[in-house]
Amino acid sequence: MRFRPSWLRRVLQVPVVPTLGLVHPDTLGPEIFEEVVAAARTGQMLPFDKERRWSATKSETVLVGEIVHRPDLTIIPTLNHRGTGMIKIHVYGPAEPDTTALRAATHRWCAGYGAATGRVIWFTPEPPPTDTATGTRALIKTFAQEDRSGAAERIRELDACPPSTQDTFVQLAQQVPETGLGFLCRRWREGRVDGPIFAAVDDGVVLGAIGPLAVMPDRDGAAVLLPQYFGVAPGHRGRGHGRALWRAAMAWGAWHGAHYQLLQAAAGGPSESLFCSEGLTTLGFTCAVAA
Ligand SMILES: CC(C)(COP(=O)(O)OP(=O)(O)OC[C@H]1O[C@@H](n2cnc3c(N)ncnc32)[C@H](O)[C@@H]1OP(=O)(O)O)[C@@H](O)C(=O)NCCC(=O)NCCS
Repeated sequence: MRFRPSWLRRVLQVPVVPTLGLVHPDTLGPEIFEEVVAAARTGQMLPFDKERRWSATKSETVLVGEIVHRPDLTIIPTLNHRGTGMIKIHVYGPAEPDTTALRAATHRWCAGYGAATGRVIWFTPEPPPTDTATGTRALIKTFAQEDRSGAAERIRELDACPPSTQDTFVQLAQQVPETGLGFLCRRWREGRVDGPIFAAVDDGVVLGAIGPLAVMPDRDGAAVLLPQYFGVAPGHRGRGHGRALWRAAMAWGAWHGAHYQLLQAAAGGPSESLFCSEGLTTLGFTCAVAA
């Protein structure tokens, strides 16, 4: 499958690539889209795919035969095999898409491919109106020398904490189910994490955590700090633990040679406000509706 560079470039507004997610803006172009489609045909995972850290096989694949590619619109459906299955329709177009028609198409694809749920996602430079779609801000953190001094006193590496403190990590994970810290806690207990987890500890109790911290080469060989699971216990928010954890993680990234990190934050949420106040650059917004 070849993408016409002029057709695709016209509609690429935010550097999100099907099955890979957010990529460095310099990587965005027809080539990476063609690599993702080629990977779908062979079933192989691309060498720079960040999902490698968790799995040897790719869970999401492009439905190559269903791609729509026109001068002003490219639609790329993907199927995620994990759990009960999900169809995700990536819509690259100049304006707000016709979500009614796209949701109907998603229902048909869900039925055809045996997926229980579907989503339509599209990309805009501005936040979406909150009543029509959920929005996620895409951001990039570019590392500087100063980031090295960001480590905070009250932040500890979880593996270096006494066992009684480590035991409280599971309680934190239970309090913030939306953060993925439950998954991280399970992997950590099994010894299957690829880097350190930092914890905000008070009186021997883990109140917040960020991790695992790991760096890998991106498509062009630049070192990227991989996304972390990140959360603070609801009863202890607003006291600086989140910012301290974030700065400690960025200090780790800077010391380990990271050039940048890509992040997504729910529009209007506390992490968006935290990341913007830390000087990260906005790359645009992903808008989504359930089908
Ligand atoms: C995001 C989160 C980790 C912040 O933790 P925290 O300990 O409350 O953060 P801090 O007290 O250090 O606050 C840091 C900044 O976050 C932002 N923030 C915190 N709470 C906020 C709120 N309720 N509304 C809006 N912004 C908020 C502010 O910018 C704040 O800076 P300020 O105090 O100078 O205004 C926490 O809210 C959380 O766990 N949220 C749920 C999970 C989540 O969103 N994880 C991030 C996924 S990317």
